[in-house]
Amino acid sequence: MLTQDQLKLSAAQSAVSYVLPLLNHNSVVGVGTGSTVNFFIDELAKHKHAFAAAVSSSNRSTERMSKHGIKVVSLNDVTSLDVYIDGADEVNSDFIMVKGGGGALTQEKIVASVAKSFVCIVDESKLVDKFGKFPLPVEVVPLARNAVARELKKLGGTPVWREGFITDNNGHILDVANLNSNSEIALQLESRINNIPGVICCGYFAQNKANVVVISGQQGVKILK
Ligand code: 5RP
Repeated sequence: MLTQDQLKLSAAQSAVSYVLPLLNHNSVVGVGTGSTVNFFIDELAKHKHAFAAAVSSSNRSTERMSKHGIKVVSLNDVTSLDVYIDGADEVNSDFIMVKGGGGALTQEKIVASVAKSFVCIVDESKLVDKFGKFPLPVEVVPLARNAVARELKKLGGTPVWREGFITDNNGHILDVANLNSNSEIALQLESRINNIPGVICCGYFAQNKANVVVISGQQGVKILK
C-alpha cells in the first residue's frame, strides 16, 4: 500500500515526464504551491537546464526553486507561459478544482491564467463527484473579513477565519464549509463570491479549469485530458 506522500511523488514524477517534451530552452514554466508541488519542484530541478525559468505562485515555491538553482522570474516579465503545474484540494471529472488549502490561491489563479495549459497533479483522494468536503478557501482584504463572512452565510456557507494565517498578499482566508456544489454551481458561485466587495479571490477554479489532470492511485498513474 503506497502512502499519500508516495502517491504525491509518483504524480509529480509523471507530471515532469509529461511536461518535459513541451519545453525548450526558452520556455518559462508556471509553478503552483503545496506539498504535491514540492515533490514536483524537486523532480523538475533535475531537468533545470531543459527550460529557461519559472514563474512562481508563492514565496514558498520561489524559495524552494531558488534553492534548487531554478531561475525564478516575475510574471510581469513574461507574456505567456508554456504550462502551469499545480495541485488541488478537490478536482472533479470536468477538471474543475477547489484550491487554496495552502492559501496561495490568488497568485495561483493569476499565474495559471497566463499559461497555455494547466496541468493539475493530485493523488486519488482529491477526486470528487461533488465539491464541499474540503471547505472553500476565500481570500479577503482583512478589514472586509466579517462583512464578507456575512455575505457568504447568505449563500449557505459556514465561513471560518483561518486565524493567524496571512497570505503573500497580506490577505486573510475564510474557509467556507457547507457550500456543496457541482460543476454548474461552482461556475456560478465563483463569479458571485468574487463579486463580493472585499473578496480578493475564491478557491473555485471553474472558469479557468485544468486542461490535464495527472492522478496517482494505488493502481498507478492516469493522465486525463
Ligand atoms: C495551495 C493549493 C494547493 O494546490 C492545494 O492546497 C493542494 O495542496 P497539497 O498538494 O499540499 O495537497 O491550492 O494554495
